[in-house]
Amino acid sequence: MSEGYPLELRKAIRVVEETREERLKKKYRRLTLEERDELVKKWHPDYRPDTKRELKVGPSRGAIVYNEVADLLEAWPIADPSKIDLSTIDYDVDILIIGGGGAAASAALWSLYSGIEPDNILIATKLRFGDANTVKAQGGIQAADRPVDSPVRHYLDTIGGGHFANKPELVRALVMDAPFIIKWLEDLGMMFDKTGEGEMIEYSGGGASRRRLHCARDYTGLEIMRVIRDEVLNKGINILEFSPAIELLTDPETGAVSGAVLWNLETSEYIIVRSKVTILATGGFGRLHLAGFPTTNHYGATADGIVLAYRVGANLRDLDSAQYHPTGVAYPEAILGELITEKCRSLGAQLVNVNGEQFIYELEPRDVVASAIIRECAEGRGVLTPTGVCGVWLDLPMIDMIRGPGTIKKNLPAMYRQFKRHGIDITEEPVLTYPTLHYQNGGIEINVYAQVLTPQGTPIPGLLAAGEVTGGVHGKNRLMGNSLLDILVFGRRAGMTAARIVKETSSKPKISFKHLEKYTAELEKINVPKTRKAPIILPDYRGNPDYRGKNPYLKILEITY
Ligand code: FUM
Repeated sequence: MSEGYPLELRKAIRVVEETREERLKKKYRRLTLEERDELVKKWHPDYRPDTKRELKVGPSRGAIVYNEVADLLEAWPIADPSKIDLSTIDYDVDILIIGGGGAAASAALWSLYSGIEPDNILIATKLRFGDANTVKAQGGIQAADRPVDSPVRHYLDTIGGGHFANKPELVRALVMDAPFIIKWLEDLGMMFDKTGEGEMIEYSGGGASRRRLHCARDYTGLEIMRVIRDEVLNKGINILEFSPAIELLTDPETGAVSGAVLWNLETSEYIIVRSKVTILATGGFGRLHLAGFPTTNHYGATADGIVLAYRVGANLRDLDSAQYHPTGVAYPEAILGELITEKCRSLGAQLVNVNGEQFIYELEPRDVVASAIIRECAEGRGVLTPTGVCGVWLDLPMIDMIRGPGTIKKNLPAMYRQFKRHGIDITEEPVLTYPTLHYQNGGIEINVYAQVLTPQGTPIPGLLAAGEVTGGVHGKNRLMGNSLLDILVFGRRAGMTAARIVKETSSKPKISFKHLEKYTAELEKINVPKTRKAPIILPDYRGNPDYRGKNPYLKILEITY
């Protein structure tokens, strides 16, 4: 055995090894819908009453959202209208796209393919273009494109996984556009995993009734971003990096969104952008460490998009639900919370408790698997690391036993390297795992054209949104491989809608901070402290050493459900 594990964990691993042959012979049954429901309600953090509260201001007042999200929605703008000069416009474009990941790139490309000049499209990113969760996505992208599958099945799986809370027309758009998106990626040069005969290799994902995950080893998101980022660069679309949006601008006469104020992270200067259409593609809230969990997310995932959209009247939905990926790293602590792709379980790796027992069918939907792992730890069947982190084993060597030697190195090269760097050889040893905050299931409500909606269901003129910042596609729980699909499907729809709107709009809009008047009056009324400001742009780990260290593993053991 390698030196990556301390002695006590090496001892615990022996139990996993001793029970492997026996476990290989058994097939763990799937849970019934009632059993799934019971498990999730008892153990999933979404159902802990201490994690959420009611919103007191804004268009979705009364909605229940996670505490950390409520704090940002009930916060003062960073931009002080009395100190920002709107008379000088720094960029005057047709389409402003805010965000640096796959949804932004897709929106930009489809605006261009729909007839907008590259000079009239501006992508504003918080970090570098491509520094986003898209490049961290490992497992794959779903599309029902085999004869034994169909978009109808994909639709039913997605709605079932989402606890029937999804917006049906958005799911329909997702699954119907999916095969086209795969073809588009192939045409752009994406290197999908294929057989020697050139057939696409497709895997199972949790909650899916057919194999429909298309992947590039275990770095699918990185490969997608490689081809679409290249396409954006080759087409000459404008990109402004290190310039996050801190406030939207609105036309005082029509109420339409007419641009944004960006903040130059290097020089601390404001940048004023006027646009006929603004597309929010800012991603989710993963860096907020909801309920004290670690995260798989990149540093920029701080919920900026929902904060900005809410102030101009957008309806928010399903923000009472978050996705905790079942298998985050629990050891070594240096990579605590990092993703261990679901593809490991698609390939045959089993989840095993301290007694060497398999305790869940590994390809249940994510919230079900996460709940089962939390239960094992809370009921004393987890494995404790020397620093008190609790987890269960993911028995990775089974993959090579089931599928033949070399499968791990071939299919999970990034995972293999990630652990090897810490002295752990995943072809020979299991890894310790525990749920980690992964995805914002809900967000800004949109229609099938990616237009942002008010609570009354009317589009907010000039504002579109795509990707993780939106809600409705995934209901209360997203299935694996549907997020990479979502960003490309709705990024494309946003780009095409934006181009149509631009062609129908002849005059330039006016810009103002008018929308803030009503919002700040509401904040005043409920006495929100003036020090609480949003968007936060980046998480501040300096002032709060406990932020990452709020150890949910220990906390969970103390919770009485
Ligand atoms: O497990 C994973 O590879 C994650 C995929 C996803 O969130 O879709």
